[in-house]
Amino acid sequence: MLAGSSLLPACAGVTYIAATPSEEGLEIPLSAFEIPHKKGMRYRSVVVLTHSRLQYPIAVFRSPDSGYRALWMKCTHQGTELNAYSGRLQCPAHGSEFDTKGKVLNGPAEAGLRSFPVHLKDDRLSIQLT
Ligand code: FES
Repeated sequence: MLAGSSLLPACAGVTYIAATPSEEGLEIPLSAFEIPHKKGMRYRSVVVLTHSRLQYPIAVFRSPDSGYRALWMKCTHQGTELNAYSGRLQCPAHGSEFDTKGKVLNGPAEAGLRSFPVHLKDDRLSIQLT
């Protein structure tokens, strides 16, 4: 069970989590990425963070070296909310795609996604909303 947060039903295999407000912005437990498995722990590559303070969700990608990157899920073409997949974000309106660093893979979008500073604090991941 996650303290202060709750897992929401997954859409297209992606886990959505309701974030908890923090001093810097929002935070989620690192356990949101964990998938217990009888052969050891496995990890989700992306978790989508939601909160009533957010106009759009934030996709938090976990890299194999345990680095984290938080991206605003607002398409830079015309502002449509993006869909998250393992390894990319895709716009349902006109097909723009972005990688896990927010860079444009396919247009018509030309600008990369806004990213947020991420900090690890014990067993929690803090996303600074600046
Ligand atoms: S609004 Fe996203 S590609 Fe047009």
